[in-house]
Amino acid sequence: MAAPLKRVGVLVSGSGTNLQALIDAAREADYPAEISLVISNVPTARALQRAQDAGIPIAVLPHGDFPERAAFDRALLEALRRHRVEVVCLAGFMRILGKDFLAAFGGPVLNIHPALLPSFPGMHAVRQALAYGAKISGCTVHLVDEGTDTGPVIAQAAVPVLDGDDEASLAARIHAEEHRLYPLALRLVAEGRISVQGRLVKAGAEPACQGLSLRNPG
Ligand code: GRF
Repeated sequence: MAAPLKRVGVLVSGSGTNLQALIDAAREADYPAEISLVISNVPTARALQRAQDAGIPIAVLPHGDFPERAAFDRALLEALRRHRVEVVCLAGFMRILGKDFLAAFGGPVLNIHPALLPSFPGMHAVRQALAYGAKISGCTVHLVDEGTDTGPVIAQAAVPVLDGDDEASLAARIHAEEHRLYPLALRLVAEGRISVQGRLVKAGAEPACQGLSLRNPG
């Protein structure tokens, strides 16, 4: 008998193209996860419409409605528990999750970042890679810890930085890789194929997954 689908909650603040990639992947017959809930701290986020179009339950938790971060985090946790979410994916979610939230949730929390970490963590990764003169950038899916973009790396994909790139063109090239990488990384996690030893994340023996952290997938 097939294993039950892992229940995934996706946290968003913006356009939600990565959410869309996860929704599309989860429609594939052999995908090991379903998107059970989408939560946004921004009521007008385009991502919410994507969730509704896909018939996925949504929760809107405007962070300004909460007196402090801990109260916001508690509301998040309650929503995730109500929907029996087992894995959280941050997909352009513009809030930092507190240590207490991570401990209380207990399951894996993944994030996607538009740079090859540990280079260019934080808000303006694409702009910073360009300004630095990097010749290669890319994206990283990592486990979330208490820091900002510091958790163990699950998978990375590289893209070239081309002469004449501006922030929009480089971001678009990175986005295209994000949309391939995030569903692959979530698949590994949902199938229970990663093991974490300190900072090191090892993927299982499936040929399709070997070396994911070393080269572009696909
Ligand atoms: C992505 O570039 C992701 O790496 C970063 O936020 C952006 C979200 O884009 N964390 P979208 O909302 O998925 O289109």
